[in-house]
Amino acid sequence: MKTKWLVLAAAAACFVLTGAGVHAADSDKISFGKNIRPLLEQHCSQCHEPDNKHAGFDVTNYREFKRGGESGRAITPGEPENSLLMDKILGKSQPRMPYKLSPLSDKEITLFRKWIEQGAHGD
Ligand code: HEC
Repeated sequence: MKTKWLVLAAAAACFVLTGAGVHAADSDKISFGKNIRPLLEQHCSQCHEPDNKHAGFDVTNYREFKRGGESGRAITPGEPENSLLMDKILGKSQPRMPYKLSPLSDKEITLFRKWIEQGAHGD
């Protein structure tokens, strides 16, 4: 009887632990390809692509995006508070981006912030 309960308890603990682990990994690690590129395509690339590159800033490939525009780097890996991109989408640096369109949602802004915090890696 005692052993049966122990086995059940161990199985339940395993279930909870692995479940929580998978969930945390999924929600915490921001991927350039999966999370950031789609945002750039949806909100930014119509004005920041090779043929139509406002302020010299091209976001259609990772290297150019990391290189920045006329003002230099728009991203400082690990430091969202020192990244022009964050100031632009928050409106701290005018004009706010996306230019003359609705601001990004809090959720989208958080994705950019976390991705920069995590080192702004490509994948
Ligand atoms: C409708 C066109 C348009 C869209 C969409 C747009 N931008 Fe811009 N962007 C501009 C223009 C125009 C400028 C130059 C503004 C100025 O300084 O007067 C600019 C400048 C910038 C700069 C400054 C670059 C530098 O080196 O000076 C950054 C960073 C930037 N945009 C990021 C973004 C991001 C991120 C998005 C998407 C969330 C975005 N933009 C969407 C038109 C756009």
